[in-house]
Amino acid sequence: MIAKAEPQEHMRRKRDAYWADLVGGVTGRYKTEQVARLLEGHQLPEDSAVVDVGAGTSGLGDMVAELGGAARIIRVDYDEGIVATGRAAETDPAVEWRVADARDLASWSDRVGAVTYFDILHELYSFVGREGENPAVDHARGRAAVEEALSAAAKLLAPGGVLVITDDVLPEEEVTVGVACLRTEIAELVRRIEGEYRSRPLEIRWLDDHTFELPARTFITLLTHYNKPKVGDEARWSVEQMEVHEYMKVSEYESFLRSAGLTPRIAAGTPPEALAEWRADFEVLSGLDDFPLKRVAVVAVK
Ligand SMILES: C[S@@+](CC[C@H](N)C(=O)[O-])C[C@H]1O[C@@H](n2cnc3c(N)ncnc32)[C@H](O)[C@@H]1O
Repeated sequence: MIAKAEPQEHMRRKRDAYWADLVGGVTGRYKTEQVARLLEGHQLPEDSAVVDVGAGTSGLGDMVAELGGAARIIRVDYDEGIVATGRAAETDPAVEWRVADARDLASWSDRVGAVTYFDILHELYSFVGREGENPAVDHARGRAAVEEALSAAAKLLAPGGVLVITDDVLPEEEVTVGVACLRTEIAELVRRIEGEYRSRPLEIRWLDDHTFELPARTFITLLTHYNKPKVGDEARWSVEQMEVHEYMKVSEYESFLRSAGLTPRIAAGTPPEALAEWRADFEVLSGLDDFPLKRVAVVAVK
């Protein structure tokens, strides 16, 4: 097993900047709809539990339990503070809270009908993927940590059980994209992010004051993060600077999950509000026909 990271700094920053958006905002609504659609009509194995990994403060695991008819919910987080607060406030006897790392599931013996990862795998990728003091995430190392967690979960699932994943997604196309900033403030913002973001080199090549080229895989990273400093949300920007949100393409989810013995259903798309904001700030000039897709939702059946 890959050594566990100790992302204390991340936990500290996040406690100061915990975001409601992941559950109730644009992203929260979008991912809830995507997952509900993919899960429609799927009955979870009888008497099984939903294990919501990286549950944080969200109740999205409850939706999966309700839709699939699960008997119990086990909320898991490696942040002891989150678990202690959740446990103290819990009134539902069918809900249990556990402190555990996403990769600990290999040693569990519960009867599990669903394991859910709502916007947590990118954290595993980012923190385990970093070696020593190097601020850049090593892709192979991060990816191996994600695969280790998903493989353990796939083994734990009872037949007919599901893995559920939501996150940001890498574009399929490995191309260089030409981009124009539509206002001077946006060009200045891109230069700021270029200077401050260390988790993945953005590889931006400026062509003039307002126009640049970069790989499609870092264009989506830029699009994911730029609106936090844009609106002055410095607390959230300080958290997200430590993260890479995009670690797999749709085709990579597909092939990895099949090799783990699961049958995936996958939906990829962009929340309309995010697309409207991108269109107001940038224009795609070359390389792609349009902006890359932002979000992925996966339901993989055992
Ligand atoms: C971005 S939040 C998402 C919270 C919630 N699932 C949602 O969608 O709103 C990620 C959560 O995963 C937890 N987390 C990150 N890495 C983890 C790991 N390796 N094992 C367990 N929990 C982890 C964090 O503490 C945090 O609560």
